[in-house]
Amino acid sequence: MEKLFTPFQAGDTDLVNRVVMAPMTRSRAMSGDTADELTAKYYQQRASAGLLITEGSQISVQGQGYLFTPGIYSGAQVQGWQKVTKAVHNAGGKIYIQLWHVGRISHNSLQTDGQAPVSSVAATASNSTCYARDESGRPGPVPVSEPRALSVPEIKAVVQDYVQAAKNAIRAGFDGVEIHAANGYLLEQFINGGLNIRKDEYGGADPENRLRFVLEVTDAISAAIGAGKTGIRLAPFGRLFDMHAFDNEEETWLLLADKLSARSLSYVHLSDQQTLGEQAIPAGFIEKFRAACSAPLIIAGGFDKQRAEAYLQEGKADLIGFGRPYIANPDLVERMANDWPLNEVNRATMYGGDEKGYTDYTFWADSQD
Ligand SMILES: Cc1cc2nc3c(=O)[nH]c(=O)nc-3n(C[C@H](O)[C@H](O)[C@H](O)COP(=O)(O)O)c2cc1C
Repeated sequence: MEKLFTPFQAGDTDLVNRVVMAPMTRSRAMSGDTADELTAKYYQQRASAGLLITEGSQISVQGQGYLFTPGIYSGAQVQGWQKVTKAVHNAGGKIYIQLWHVGRISHNSLQTDGQAPVSSVAATASNSTCYARDESGRPGPVPVSEPRALSVPEIKAVVQDYVQAAKNAIRAGFDGVEIHAANGYLLEQFINGGLNIRKDEYGGADPENRLRFVLEVTDAISAAIGAGKTGIRLAPFGRLFDMHAFDNEEETWLLLADKLSARSLSYVHLSDQQTLGEQAIPAGFIEKFRAACSAPLIIAGGFDKQRAEAYLQEGKADLIGFGRPYIANPDLVERMANDWPLNEVNRATMYGGDEKGYTDYTFWADSQD
């Protein structure tokens, strides 16, 4: 029997199979950064996954780096997400929301009163764009702004923003939350030793200091909604958004693995960035991570059915995340289970726009009419 289609329990949530829809920004929250009926339809179409993880959803205005991404900090946003969770649950699915703070990958125009975005240190990400309005007011990619370093009281306030967002998520009907600590955004801007040269207890050479913020967020959310409803996404050796190699890089990630292991989380999710154009997680690292961390493990990045099954059979992961294949195949589970061919993703409609490239990808059964 193929393991990919067998059930698994992740924290408090029973999953009918081990197929996870990886979090993917789609930039279609056109009104008030709020999920709507179209968002609900998109996720409902994909509800046969064992677990859906939503697109990154900003926990605050400060946490936003792209126009038209949904938030989870206002009452209207909670109501918008309620439509989504209801639709997914009606279809028998399970859904987590990804909690996002972009840190320095933002632009002054997206921030309250045009303030600077925030990060661990005041260093601008090179060769990095976010998505905001240009001088003529037209939405488009713009170079990220120079950030300022968060003060310690401000770090504590951001932890509280995460907690409020997690509580909002439960009110909105989500089965749990995924902390986005991957892909070069705020929490990774603290973990990365090349960037975070702060002199206080949140940075510098000692990895314990650089891990403090992400662990405080994890613990505060777990205390608020339960560890069994709390997952976290990491990108070990991640290079997206001007992240660089740093001293004792592997040791830092394995120390974090060890610390997360003690926390009885719903899952830990590793993002391999190879298919996003960056280096792969080095060979042998996943085995070491797994040895250090007893939490259920999701791995995403470049999987098809065969590779997913091999990872599960070898015990390298418990669950497999699929990104782009899920954009183009709402019935990815059925297609993989029956060895039906997959639709190809259209890159031009990945971000922004309407139903096209969002809810109009065909189900295999309909394409046979
Ligand atoms: C259009 C698009 C949007 C994405 N948005 C997010 C996001 O919001 N949060 C995140 O953690 N990863 C994001 N990712 C990364 C995916 O979750 C996934 O790790 C990546 O696509 C590799 O998996 P794949 O090879 O199966 O596509 C995004 C990827 C794509 C293609």
